[in-house]
This record gives sequence, C-alpha cells and structure tokens, in this order.
Amino acid sequence: MKPVKLGLLGLGTVGGGVVNLLERNRDEIGRRAGREIEVVHAATRHPDRARSCSIEGIRVSTDPMAVVDDPETEIIIELIGGETAARELIERAIDQGKHVVTANKELIAKAGNEIFGKARDRGVTLGFEAAVAGGIPIIKAVREGLVGNRIEWLAGIINGTANFILSEMFYNGREFGDVLAEAQRLGYAEADPSFDVDGIDAAHKLTILASIAFGIPLQYDRVYMEGIGHISRDDVAYAQELGFRIKHLGICRRNDSGLGLRVHPTLVPERQLLASVDGVMNAVMVNGDALGPTLYYGAGAGAEPTASAVVADLVDVVREFTLEPENRVPYLAFQSHALSHEVALPMEDVETAYYLRLLARDKPGVLAEVARLLAEEGISIEAIIQKQPEPGASEVPVIILTHRVREWLMNRACERIEALEAIEGSAVRIRVETLGS
Ligand code: HSE
Repeated sequence: MKPVKLGLLGLGTVGGGVVNLLERNRDEIGRRAGREIEVVHAATRHPDRARSCSIEGIRVSTDPMAVVDDPETEIIIELIGGETAARELIERAIDQGKHVVTANKELIAKAGNEIFGKARDRGVTLGFEAAVAGGIPIIKAVREGLVGNRIEWLAGIINGTANFILSEMFYNGREFGDVLAEAQRLGYAEADPSFDVDGIDAAHKLTILASIAFGIPLQYDRVYMEGIGHISRDDVAYAQELGFRIKHLGICRRNDSGLGLRVHPTLVPERQLLASVDGVMNAVMVNGDALGPTLYYGAGAGAEPTASAVVADLVDVVREFTLEPENRVPYLAFQSHALSHEVALPMEDVETAYYLRLLARDKPGVLAEVARLLAEEGISIEAIIQKQPEPGASEVPVIILTHRVREWLMNRACERIEALEAIEGSAVRIRVETLGS
C-alpha cells in the first residue's frame, strides 16, 4: 500500500521531534499503523535555520497554506500554536476533507466546540493528544481506557514550568521570581510566562480534560484560574510542617451542586504520589467509580515526548481511515449528541478545605477571636499552629487548616477576620485537597 502523506505546519522543537521519530521508528510505526507514514511537505518561517532533524526529501514552504492546499497531503499536523492563523489553517484542512492532528491546547480549549463541529460535518478526524500533558497518553486513557467508569474527579499537575518553580522552592528554599528567571533561561516557560505561572496554560489543558471526562462541551471561560506568584517560601515550609506539599493543580470535581473546574495552588498530602511529582514532570490522577484512583505520569513537554503523542494520533487516524465517521472514537469521548449542557459552577459554590496564613498581634484572645469567627461561619478547624515572631516583630504568623467549606463562606469569614484590629493585612489562602486519601 502507498505510504500516507503528511503535511507538517511548524518545524520547530516539536515539529523536528515528529520528523525524527517518524524516521527513527519508521518500521515499527508502519507495522502498527498498517501503512508507512511520511512527511512530504513542511512549513517553516525559517527555512534556512539549522535544525535538529533532517529535512531531506521534504518539500519546505514558508507559507503554511501551501502545505494545507498541497493535493498530496492527506493529514495535516498543526504545530504552530496560537489562535488565529492556526484556526484558519485547521479549518481549511477540514474543508478539504483532510484529517488533522494538533498540539494546540489554547485553540482546542477556546474554539474546539466549533472546530469539532466542522470536522464532524466533514467526516474527518481531529487528534489532540499532544495538547494535554505532552507525551502522557491521558486523552487516550480517559477517552478509551476508562469508558466503563463514571469519572468522579480528576486532578493534575499539567504545567511543567509551574511545577519546576514549586519544586525548586521546596527543595532549595528559593523564591518564586528567582526560579522563574531560571525556567525562562532553560526554555521551559511559554513565550509569555504568565501562561505558565498564572495558570492560563493549565486552564487550557483542564478545559479539555474536563470535557472528555465528564461529557460536557469545552468551557474555558468557566475555569477558575489562580497562579503561583503569591506562594512564598514560608508557605512551602509551613505546608511541609503540616505534612503537605504545595502543587499547582488543575482539578475537576463534582459536588452536590455541580461540577467545579479550577486551577490553583493546592496543598496535597505528602503521602499522595502526586505530591512527589517534581521538576518539569506532569501527572494526572483520575478517579473512576469502578477502577478507583489511577495516576498517569510522564514528560509534559519537549520535542520527542510531545512527538510521541502526535505520532500516536497519526497512527489512530491511519487505522481509522476506512471506518465510517460515526464508528470512530468521538472527539470528546462522548457521542456529540450525548454531550450534556452542564455549565461549570461559579467558584463561590465550589467546596474545598483551606490553609490560611494570618499575621496576628501577639496578645491574649486573638486566636480565640479568629476561631470564633470561623465557627460562626460554620467552618471547622482541623489544625492550627502559631509560629515564633521574627526578631523585633510584634506580629506572629498563624497557620490554620480547615475542613471542607463552600468558597463563599470562606470569603465571608476571611473578610471578617481581616477586619479584626489584631490582624495585619490579608489572609494568605491556599486550597487543600486530600485526593481521596
Ligand atoms: N509551558 C508548558 C509547560 C509546555 O510548562 O508545561 C507544555 O504545554
């Protein structure tokens, strides 16, 4: 049989990884797919740049549309990222009946509902494994391996840069800004590092995970997002004293009012495997009603890890070439007509436990007053520690762990606590999740 011919949009880090992987494992991949797969046309803005892969035998264009429009290309791999140009290219490929594989988390999270609609109407496949957690086959696992389960919750470390920063703060006592500068030097961070440290990148990925796990449309606008910029070394150390690690998690969980989609720093018990995921690594924990908790761990970025996910999608596309579109695995795991219209809860209605750090005047009755206000809001305290004051300071840090409480109640309690004359400044609040342990 003739080889399947690919058009590749982007010959950067991941594009180079795809070319190398397809070349190095050509036989294995061909035996798995049932056809050989080869890149015939690639687009790059820098055709003369030195690169990590050989482009011998590949036509190279500076215009990505030329690759999409090339009558020889059957599958288009989109690796240029961003929203506008990538969307135009993908939609043009779909219009021409070409299958698409993309790593574009932002585009899928924000415009996926419309793009999948188009792909469905045209009967083409759209693979996006590489959009979430790099090389970890988490889409495949949730969409296919766990179909017998009702997913109860999922929680993941889905941004390697934020995890690297928190790991360095934990192991080496470094401050946030200092580690971020290093992450940028090492090339881990997105071009705009706020995508990593403010939770935007993780929110893109969580949007996709939530949709395939819970059968809801993509709803990026409903994801609550909080970054790690306000986490201090002190919080990392106090959390450790209490038996926790601070991780930046994307979490999707149902309570009795609905489904919460959120990305925020989270205290995780140190005995949880997720707490030991360090550096730039990613991991996603999924709790299904039949299987219980499972953990998927691996490289969340990088040339070949991401290429591994792209090639997995390619092989799926090739294997499904001859299937009628209605017999293929649905894009978002649930049949399109069976997606629910459930809208994610506002954050005020989400329930979590809390770590609070207050700066309190060191005088009798202050702790009793704080405990009374929490009790009045129905918030139960699990642990409380008062630290020694810094030399010369008249205020002491007080750390409180609470039981689970609706966010709006905690908001009200914090407002009342911060208004106390004996409390200095605002409370530092970090949510706590025991993840079933
Ligand atoms: N900047 C992302 C991260 C890259 O740090 O995880 C992969 O999406």
